[in-house]
Amino acid sequence: MKIVVVQGPNLNMLGVREQQIYGPMRLEQIHAQMKEVADQNGVEIEFFQSNLEGEIVDKIQECYGDAHGIIINPAAYTHTSIAIRDAISAVNIPTIEVHISNIHRREEFRQKNMIAPVCASSIVGFGPFGYHLAMVGMLQILNEIKAAQEAHAAQQQAQQANA
Ligand code: DQA
Repeated sequence: MKIVVVQGPNLNMLGVREQQIYGPMRLEQIHAQMKEVADQNGVEIEFFQSNLEGEIVDKIQECYGDAHGIIINPAAYTHTSIAIRDAISAVNIPTIEVHISNIHRREEFRQKNMIAPVCASSIVGFGPFGYHLAMVGMLQILNEIKAAQEAHAAQQQAQQANA
């Protein structure tokens, strides 16, 4: 099973940018913690960050046939990008959206969210800990998918044996 983590614009500046909102943790530290959880659970994990909308769309498309889950913080593109939303819909892979800050308590322009309606879940306002929560949530989703696949395979085997 493989999870791809997609980080949008300016998240490479975590630890430097607006620490009063996003805190002191750097992206590499967040990713190191996520990798630990992935390793503990025998799940492959890949990290990707881009400041460019088209590159994020390309990465999501690459997940098709490759990844079983996507954890994404589209950052500012959350509020504008139909292209990223359509890419998530197109690949049809369970996706969890993370926002470090509570976007619902912030400026009016952050109240519009193009991404949430195509995600399995949204985690907002927990700071960097939100990524850990997303990992736990994604592992649960992947376990459920695996269990459903195994049940389906067992059912087919039973049907073949009875044929
Ligand atoms: C953010 C919230 C967005 O509104 C903002 O543009 C970001 C980060 C967050 O993680 O809280 O860049 O996605």
